[in-house]
Amino acid sequence: MQILHVVGARPNFVKAAPVLRAIRARGARQTLVHTGQHYDRNMSDVFFTQLEIPEPDFNLGGGSGSHAGQTAEVMRRFEPVVLETKPDMVLVYGDVNSTVAAALVCSKLLIPVGHVEAGLRSFDRTMPEEINRIVTDCLSVMLFTPSEDGDRNLRNEGVPADKIHRVGNVMIDSLIQLLPAAEKLSKNGLPERFALVTLHRPSNVDHSENLKSLLGALQEASGSLHVVFLVHPRTRQRIAEFGINTEKLHLLEPVPYVEFLNLQSRAAVVITDSGGIQEETTFLGVPCRTVRTNTERPITVDLGTNCLVGEDRERLTSELQKILNGNAKKGSVPPLWDGHASDRLAEVVLNR
Ligand code: UD1
Repeated sequence: MQILHVVGARPNFVKAAPVLRAIRARGARQTLVHTGQHYDRNMSDVFFTQLEIPEPDFNLGGGSGSHAGQTAEVMRRFEPVVLETKPDMVLVYGDVNSTVAAALVCSKLLIPVGHVEAGLRSFDRTMPEEINRIVTDCLSVMLFTPSEDGDRNLRNEGVPADKIHRVGNVMIDSLIQLLPAAEKLSKNGLPERFALVTLHRPSNVDHSENLKSLLGALQEASGSLHVVFLVHPRTRQRIAEFGINTEKLHLLEPVPYVEFLNLQSRAAVVITDSGGIQEETTFLGVPCRTVRTNTERPITVDLGTNCLVGEDRERLTSELQKILNGNAKKGSVPPLWDGHASDRLAEVVLNR
């Protein structure tokens, strides 16, 4: 049996690493394709090194572009690879443009697709990732969900129960594996107590007024707490373009995975619009304030440490104050976020 994995963007390297390892341990033949959606060293190469992901067999060099352009380019470059390698099954991860592009190519070539991190829904179709999730799930024959809400969403869409496999959260497998290394890292000159910020969603960073008011709230917060802001390339471009003042914030480049885990585990609070970070903070028990009006990961709010602050900047400020006063809610770790999701997934794939 030959399994082909498709990765392309930063969060999916973290998800694919433990799955590749679990399937390798069971002796199946594997092919790895990197679409090239993320290509900067700190967004791609260092993840491969730290997560011990083998060199991709194919690097498509898809790169950036409009949604249609990026998706089409990955499809165009990926199709010959599938025709050449003839995999028995293709695994795709998460909800990025590379994910949906690969799922479309394979389903038209009648190659079965397995979707890792299936069933998540924000019910907000203005979000490109929501379209990617719906289409990818619809095209997949094996749907690997991280939590019960994923199963429920799929059942509500009419997906037969025998296609749904709740294996747990593969991203947490990587976290559990590398947390000891992260905890050994030095404090790299950062303050003892800080808020950690990541922002990259178009809805937060592409509109000048939104980004200005958001960064304004963070500048204000810096009066009571240092703010460490890891700036995604898209966000850096926008800050420069809109001429926004960030002088009170510690602006850093995106950091590698292990360094990021170290920062997350030490943060007093994490402020983000990322999906995966909502999950990682829930596992770590660190308060997370998500600058979005919805989440496809409601379990992090119901069980974990996450809270949505929407677009209300005053809400963000008051939530931060609550945390500083020691009044953050305590969460718990969702079932099956236990470091063995990839083993369960590999068993399902190989016993198909
Ligand atoms: C993509 C995913 C998003 C995910 C995020 C994680 C989609 C629709 N979005 O968003 O779901 O949360 O990855 O980071 O697939 N760029 C660089 N270097 C890189 C990569 C990108 O400079 O290595 C810049 C380019 O200017 C590019 C922009 O960042 O145009 C956005 O990159 P893109 O891959 O289109 O989307 P992300 O915002 O990273």
